[in-house]
Amino acid sequence: MPPPVKGTLLLHEDTASLEKAAQIIKSGGLVAFPTETVYGLGAAATSAAGVARIYKAKGRPADNPLIVHLSYSDQLKDVACDIPETAFKLARRFWPGPLSLVLPRAEKIPALVSAGLPSVAVRMPAHKTALEFIRLSGVPIAAPSANRSGRPSPTTYRHVLDDLTGRIDAVIKSTPCPVGVESTVLDLTGEKPLILRPGGVSREELETELGFSVDVAAATARKGEPPLSPGMKYRHYSPQAKLILISGPAPARLPLIKVLAAHYRSLGLKVGYLNTALEGSLRYGVAPEQLAAGLYDSMRRMDRQGVDIILAEEVDAAGIGLAVMNRLKKAAARILRVYPGQV
Ligand code: TXA
Ligand code: MG
Repeated sequence: MPPPVKGTLLLHEDTASLEKAAQIIKSGGLVAFPTETVYGLGAAATSAAGVARIYKAKGRPADNPLIVHLSYSDQLKDVACDIPETAFKLARRFWPGPLSLVLPRAEKIPALVSAGLPSVAVRMPAHKTALEFIRLSGVPIAAPSANRSGRPSPTTYRHVLDDLTGRIDAVIKSTPCPVGVESTVLDLTGEKPLILRPGGVSREELETELGFSVDVAAATARKGEPPLSPGMKYRHYSPQAKLILISGPAPARLPLIKVLAAHYRSLGLKVGYLNTALEGSLRYGVAPEQLAAGLYDSMRRMDRQGVDIILAEEVDAAGIGLAVMNRLKKAAARILRVYPGQV
């Protein structure tokens, strides 16, 4: 067993280490674990005390509910009740995978998991280590992303250590999370399914499976309206740098970015680029899947480099691009729309 890092144990993916992780869960502790989307910070979903520790370790607002993770489909009936046929249909098609279903909460699951809501979000992750860790724990695992509240989600175990060393019991060390953005949160408690948060399963894939169109909740709550998903009202996924998102036709974006960069530099500020067609920019022109996989790491890297202003171009909101745009909008301090010939 590797030595603990300031009280946080670094575990590997072998069976003995995963058994140790499961032991920690059984005794009410916190373990960060890899999933295909981002790292999760897990506690036994049946333990109100364990779940309370998650909120504390993350500094998470008490009104933002967690997602419950399963290792086999039958566990669903321990977590949710009055499950509609649509849920079974979607679970058959997309689990294990990055789709969280919001359903009526079963009694076994403490209200704290759902921040007091009568519903609960549940998914089965498509990650071998996560599935084995949950199975060995013998209970569903409640887990938000394993970052300090307000920071970009962690896609490597180093990100987890950067944010939570000394605040959690253990981290399971794995390779970087392949999807890189969080699961799609789909509300099935209303009359029609509603995407509360776009993520790893695309809207198009859901619509193909369901055979009808599915609405997407606005990325941020409109002024004066209550948020549909409690997570909506927080400025999530934020780097420390101020992110400016430039939208509008591609040829018109670059001149504006150049003007902005020169302006901020003249003020003595350090400028970084994310998905822009400028030299030194991270990940421009890559497939949206690749952009998603490196998004949070890019934000964190720029923070480490002391970047003050991140200039980012919008992406096409198709497929996983919808999730990437949602995260960019939420991270953005400002969104600038440019028109042809404006600059
Ligand atoms: O991919 C993921 O979903 C990752 C990995 C670890 O599974 N987890 C994750 O959890 O992103 P978290 O806590 O960072 O985000 C959960 C989101 C929040 O926006 C929250 O508001 C929403 O899901 N949510 C959870 N339960 C809900 C509920 N009962 N009703 C509405 N929204 C809910
Ligand atoms: Mg999160």
